Amino acid sequence: MKIVAIASTAEMLAQIQHILQDIQENDQYIFLQRHNQDLRIDRIDLASTNILILDSESIDQADLRLISTFTRENANPAVIYMAGPCSEEELINAIRSGVMEFIHTPIVSHDLTSAIERIRSRKYISNTHKPRGKVLSFISCKGGAGATFIASNLGHIISTEQAKKVLMIDLHLQFGDASFYLSDEPGLATLADIVTKEGLDNTVIATAAMQINENYFLLQAPDNEEDSLGILARHIDNLLTIAVQDYDFVIVDLPIIIDALAMKSLDRSDYIFVVMQPTVPYMRAFTKMNHLLTKLGCESQKIRTILNRYSPSIDIPLQKIEEAIQTKISFTIANDYVTVSKSVNIGKPITLLDSKNIICSNLRDIVVMVSDHIIEKSSIPFFKKWFG
Ligand SMILES: Nc1ncnc2c1ncn2[C@@H]1O[C@H](COP(=O)(O)OP(=O)(O)OP(=O)(O)O)[C@@H](O)[C@H]1O
Ligand SMILES: [Mg+2]
Repeated sequence: MKIVAIASTAEMLAQIQHILQDIQENDQYIFLQRHNQDLRIDRIDLASTNILILDSESIDQADLRLISTFTRENANPAVIYMAGPCSEEELINAIRSGVMEFIHTPIVSHDLTSAIERIRSRKYISNTHKPRGKVLSFISCKGGAGATFIASNLGHIISTEQAKKVLMIDLHLQFGDASFYLSDEPGLATLADIVTKEGLDNTVIATAAMQINENYFLLQAPDNEEDSLGILARHIDNLLTIAVQDYDFVIVDLPIIIDALAMKSLDRSDYIFVVMQPTVPYMRAFTKMNHLLTKLGCESQKIRTILNRYSPSIDIPLQKIEEAIQTKISFTIANDYVTVSKSVNIGKPITLLDSKNIICSNLRDIVVMVSDHIIEKSSIPFFKKWFG
């Protein structure tokens, strides 16, 4: 669920944050403070917010008037209002204005978490704005295997040929290069400019991302290491939670070193693609990477192996490679130095250069697999489901 808290003081905000961090769900949080007592509700997208948590010293009539305007016609957001001692009449007024849960301050953690869980159990609230997207992570088992090339071009095919909305996130906090595979000019903003900011939402992501085509967006890696200081795993978690609400596919290009940020992306992935090449050093590296992923608790059914730059006539036979790495190869991608170099050198996706190239058809095999699992959003409008 998307949960927004607008607190009256920084202390209250910190207290709410502290309580919510113990909730073991993939919720997205936005934490804001009032501006001179004003809720400034225009800062949030109410339609996609499931729960709105507000506090005030005492029940505030201006707040109630505002709450009644947005709760009158919509199930979302459900309002949790927290205030000090109040009369029975004030409490009734709050409920009449549309407050769903009232909590007395000072807050007791359990009061807030159980109010959230009660709202979560009302499916008509928590099911609104269900995430629509899948997360696909790509990782090379050894430098230069082709993860960025494959991930960026796969995104392009999905966005153009399947008309799905795709966000690619370059999670290399040092030397990210995904933008060079898709464009000849880097964009102005990077992941570091937005990911730690409060109030991150899809409008912010869309503003910061480079637009590759109508449906394809790329959030570039930070330009330098200093910019990425302060990015924490929870920021990546929040970014993914927000992104999957608006994009059909979120493709993450991961660095080889699996740190806490990469781990978060692996955790949230529907598929993890490990990319290797048909040579012995890559086979050794693959075995180590596979072992590491298992040790880190990645579910094996999410992992897919891509053998890149494979030429059946000259390389080690597929079966021998599978025996050596003790893993089934899920997909092979052909080796085509000339076309790939051209694509990479001019920053154009390979389908724009030669859409009939064997590499494009290899990539389409992956598209078929990931697309099969898209959960289509219900076509029945919300109000029809409830009112016939
Ligand atoms: N199928 C292919 N055929 C020919 N060349 C390829 C193929 N795939 C990738 N390459 C070449 O390999 C180079 C390295 O690919 P890429 O940058 O995608 O690897 P990576 O795994 O992301 O590396 P890094 O570890 O640096 O992130 C590319 O610049 C491209 O020229
Ligand atoms: Mg790369």
